[in-house]
Parts: sequence; C-alpha cells; structure tokens
Amino acid sequence: MSSDPLMQPFTLKHLVLRNRLMSTAYEPAYTEDGLPKTRYRLYHAEKAKGGIALTMIGGSSVVAPDSPQAFGNILLYKDEAVRWLKELADDVHAHGAAVMIQVTHLGRRTSWSKADWLPVIAPSYVREPAHRAFPKVMEDWDIARVVQAYADSAERVKAAGLDGMELECYGHLIDQFWSPASNKRNDAYGGPLENRMRFALEVLTAIRKRVVDDLLVGVRMVCDEDWDRGLSREKGVSIARRLAASGLVDFVNVIRGHIETDEVLSHVIPGMGARSAPHLDFAGDVRAATRMPTFHAARIQDVATARHAIESGKLDMVGMTRAHLADPHIARKVAEGREHEIRPCVGMGYCIDSIYSGEAVCIHNAATGREATIPHVVARSAGPGRKVVVGGAGPAGLEAARVAGERGHGVVVFEAAPQRGGQVLIAAGLKRRREILGIVDWRLAECARLGVAIPATPMPRPPTFWPRTPVVVVVATGGVPNMSFLDAGEALAASTWDILTGAVKPAARVLLYDDNGAHPGMTAAEFIAGAGSKLEVVTPERTLAPDVGGTNYPAYFRALALAGATIEINLRLERLERRGNAVAGIFFDEYGKRHVVKEADQIVVDHGAASVDELYFELKPGSINLGEIDHKALLANRPQEIVRNPEGRYRLFRIGDAVASRNIHAAVYDAIRLMKDI
Ligand SMILES: Cc1cc2nc3c(=O)[nH]c(=O)nc-3n(C[C@H](O)[C@H](O)[C@H](O)COP(=O)(O)O)c2cc1C
Ligand code: SF4
Repeated sequence: MSSDPLMQPFTLKHLVLRNRLMSTAYEPAYTEDGLPKTRYRLYHAEKAKGGIALTMIGGSSVVAPDSPQAFGNILLYKDEAVRWLKELADDVHAHGAAVMIQVTHLGRRTSWSKADWLPVIAPSYVREPAHRAFPKVMEDWDIARVVQAYADSAERVKAAGLDGMELECYGHLIDQFWSPASNKRNDAYGGPLENRMRFALEVLTAIRKRVVDDLLVGVRMVCDEDWDRGLSREKGVSIARRLAASGLVDFVNVIRGHIETDEVLSHVIPGMGARSAPHLDFAGDVRAATRMPTFHAARIQDVATARHAIESGKLDMVGMTRAHLADPHIARKVAEGREHEIRPCVGMGYCIDSIYSGEAVCIHNAATGREATIPHVVARSAGPGRKVVVGGAGPAGLEAARVAGERGHGVVVFEAAPQRGGQVLIAAGLKRRREILGIVDWRLAECARLGVAIPATPMPRPPTFWPRTPVVVVVATGGVPNMSFLDAGEALAASTWDILTGAVKPAARVLLYDDNGAHPGMTAAEFIAGAGSKLEVVTPERTLAPDVGGTNYPAYFRALALAGATIEINLRLERLERRGNAVAGIFFDEYGKRHVVKEADQIVVDHGAASVDELYFELKPGSINLGEIDHKALLANRPQEIVRNPEGRYRLFRIGDAVASRNIHAAVYDAIRLMKDI
C-alpha cells in the first residue's frame, strides 16, 4: 500500500473514502431542466474514473421554488431529481468514489424575476449587492416551510442512494441568519448567537428526523467572515463548535470570508496571482477547535500543497476543486507516479466566471463537461501512424500537436518565433498573471513525452518539399493586434501587446481604449497602472470589460483604483491625430451625438486580433478539402471526410485565432475536436 498521505483512506462514520482527494461543491450549470441528467452524470463519473475519493455534486442545489436557480442549480425540490441522482450515484459508485450533494436555500442570493417569480426571502431587509434583489423579511410560516423543504430534500437525497449531503452555510440563507451583517431581527431568530443559530438547528434537526443516521450530513460553513460588519472569527468558530457538540453534523467544510460582492467572493475563491492555500491554516485551527472531520478547498492547486494539508493534520479531506475541472484524473496520476502529467489548474477562473452566462468550461481543458464527445484520455489510433504538420506553437497549435501525438502520429510543429506559446506569452507579461504559462508549459511537456518535434523555424513550403508528405496540415498561426477599425492614425496607436511584451514603455499620460472588453485590455491596463502612469481607460461599452467575469475583474479594478485611473464609458474611437507632442483620440458619443477629443502622451488600443492567415491561403489550393471544415461532421463528432480537390495531398485545417479573434478555450476546443479522430 502506498505511503503517500494523500492516498490513505479516510473513514467517515460508516463510509470509507479511498483517499484524501475530493472536489467540493460547485454548480457547473450542466443541469437540463434543473435536473442532473446525462451530461452531469458523465462529468462526475469521469472524476470517479480518475480516482477521486469524494465528489460533492450539485453546488447549491435548491430546496424550494423561492430559491430559484442563480446559475443552473439542481432543483432538489422536484421529485424527478431522484431518478437522475440515482443514476449518477450508481455510476460514480461503480468507479469506486463516494458522492454527496450540497443543499441550500439561497435566501437573498438570487433573483425574484426567475422561474416562478416568487419574492426572494431573507432574515432581514438587507439587499445582497451581487444579486441585487430586495428581499422579503421571512415570517414564521416562511421559516417553518423552508425547514420542512430542507427535510424533504434530504429524503430525496437518501432515496437516490447518495452517501451524504452538505448544507451550504456561507452567503446563503442559513448563515444569513448567523451574520450580524444580514440578520437585524429582534425576535427569537435574531440578537444573541443562540437565536441566530436557531434556524440552522431547526433545519438540521428536521433533516435528522427524516434520515436518522444513515445519511452523512455536514455543513460547509463560514467560520470567520473576515469583515468588521460580519461574523467574527470568535463567533464563527463558536458556531462550528456548537454544531459539532449538537451531534447533528458529521463533518465541517471550512470557509473563510464573505461573498456578497464579486470583490469579496474573489478572496473566498482566489484566482490567478493570489497566494496558494490562503485559508488552509485557518481550516486547521477550526479542525483543532471542533475535533470534527474537516474538509476545505481554496486554491490548493497542486498535489504537493494538498499532501502538506493532510500530512500536517490540517485537513482530513482536501478539496482540489478547480484542479479537478482542469484534470479529473489527478488521483490516478498520483497513484501511478505520473504527477508531472497532471494538467495544471492555472487559476484563470474561466470556469466559475462562465456559470452565470453559460456553463463551466475550463480555459484549457475542452473535455470538461463534454465527456460524451471529447475524451479526457485520448486513445491511440487503430490505424497506421501518419504524419501531421502544425504551423504555430500557441495554445491551438500545441493542443493539436498533443492530441495528434496521443493518437500515435508523427507530429512536427513549426514555430517562426523564438519562443513557443503565442499570445499566452503576451498575457504573462503582467507578473500577476504569469501562472497562465502553465497552459503552454504543460503542453510542451506533454509534446516532449509524446515525441513531438518543435523546431524553431517557419514551416518549409510547399508541402511537396517536406521529407514525407503529411496527411494533415494544421494552421494555427494566431493573430496580430487589429487596428484596422481606425479611420486614420493607425501608426500613432500602441497596442496592448506592445505594452505587455515590453516593446513599448508606458508613457506618463496614457489613454487605453478597450474595444475588446476581454482580458488583453484589462491586463495591459493593470500593467500601465502598475508602471506609475496617469491612466484613463475608455470603452465604447456601457460597462468596462464586459467579457471579464466576476472572479477576475476585481483584481484589475483593484489595480486601477489604487493607481487612481479614470474610466469613461460609451465613447467609440474613430481616429487618431498627432497634436504637438501628444496624440489625440477623436471619439464619437453615440448617445449625445457629438465628437469628443481626448489627448494623451500615448494611446494604447485593443480591438482584438487580426488573423494571420497567409500560410493557410498559400496551402489551401494543394489540400484535399480546400480548407473546408464540414460543420455537420464536426458537431456530430464524425471525422472530416470532405473531398473538394481529389488531387490534393493533405487535409488542411485552420484553427484558433488564425480563423478569428477569440480566446484560449476556443483555440484548444478547435484543436481537439478536429484532431481526436485522425
Ligand atoms: C464553477 C464553480 C461554481 C461554484 N459553485 C459553488 C457552489 O455552488 N457552492 C459552493 O459551496 N462552492 C462553490 N464553488 C466554490 C468551490 O467549491 C471551491 O470552494 C472553490 O473553487 C475553491 O476551491 P479550489 O481552489 O480548489 O477550486 C464553485 C466553484 C466553481 C469553480
Ligand atoms: S478555467 Fe482556470 S481556474 Fe478554472 S479549472 Fe480551468 S485552469 Fe482552473
């Protein structure tokens, strides 16, 4: 048996967990009609196949219709949920893992204008800034009915055969009663701590009455809101102790911080640039104070830190939650001595940021959430090894090379630039975001393992000169900054890439025009702010950086606020002019129907990337498919078989920003879905 502390089993009452790795609850918004159907099941089963001991499903599964979905949550108040949960539990169990579900009433952390249009409820009339609902103050009958709704849901969890459930108690209804910031009541549920705990104890008691001892019940709870208006550490730990002493809970899953704005949430779920495991020591203190089986997750991204968390006795189960979104096979790789092959979570937060607008996808693992069609483990091709040539070693090209290498083909990647990594290298120009390099470094390491050659030379042409004619040529040549939208003065603009690569130093007075609304503009803005320039950011949108999500924009906004940067919205840049030593931007205000002139020492512009497509158009006439991608086949996950030119020598695919300005996820998804079948 392995002596690795992480690989030791853990016994939680009657349940033996096969190792110490878990993923804590998160709702990936994979539900269909609010139910965890096939996609949901396949996603969690993949982690079970990958060796995880416990998957906590259903982040914030809701117990009542007046807690409508905020981000695709499971509707646990529906009896139909049982059938789907059972299928999921059976599948996860068949692969040796345990499965529990997180259960909640969101209280004020949702919206009234959804589903059944019931008023949002809360202990007191205190609005949550993030979800913006003005709540109804709960009456006695609201309290009684929600307590019963929790108990009804517990019965459904038990009927589905899950191993346990966890109550969400941070930012949701139960702890909205605990926190002095949200509970202003003066009845039996407000005031002293025992009153503020009353609702939680009523819920737990009602649950225990229904499911007795055969279902494990825990709490994921805030033990310190780390906020002068909120629950103090002393009070939070005291609640944990009292819950432990009540005998009603089997484990505690520790949270530190509060979540009612995006800024504060970004410290509870820390992302790129935050320190590793910031709340681990605190979780260890709670474990010591409560003597309860203790779980915890918050930026424990790597196996060494997870191992330390167990070995040092701070935790019983360590949550590597986003890490499992990036690679669901962590435990298996650890057990097989292949830790170095784990695809790293780089803390980009694209997963969580996408749940409000769509569904959780990992920025650099296109298989996550698409288990029915995209493999996490790419199988070797049954056919003969063939030659694949890739032009460009950015994320798209390297992903294409990695997947083709896994298929067993001979792969060469030509990269004209001295360094490999494409736009990822540019993003890493901001020190805080250097972790993004993991996306490239992991692929380079995998390519090396798979014998992929990556000479630092442009692709030799025409293809007939190549030593062996390839069967597939992939063009992943990326893009360059796009200034073509300007009516005049292109040469006067600096690009965000110029700034981030260091090619152009930020001047004393900088105006940054962000007409992309995504990371590049904000990354450059933070860089410029950090360089001490006087910065004004101008956007044609009604809000800054609309494509930067809730856990990512706070870090940028902090940097801008600290530097005293100013922001102006609703102005569209038309042209640039030289005015003495300054550059003038001529903007159009669409609402005021007027032109506005702004001067600065330097105007930095982001308008996405213009595709570099010369190589593609050069190779197109010699290809079998004339570059065409059969969308029907692509979407049905069938191989590409179009023949437009029977004389052609190779199949040609163009992927990533070489097609159109998009992002890293689009690039790697383009790559794997074309290459997985060759
Ligand atoms: C997409 C996504 C959705 C989440 N939703 C929930 C949720 O519903 N309930 C919850 O307790 N935590 C939720 N979390 C937080 C995670 O459980 C975890 O605490 C967080 O990701 C930090 O752990 P990590 O650094 O290991 O990822 C969510 C996280 C992600 C990435
Ligand atoms: S999107 Fe980023 S934070 Fe989320 S799992 Fe992927 S690498 Fe990690």
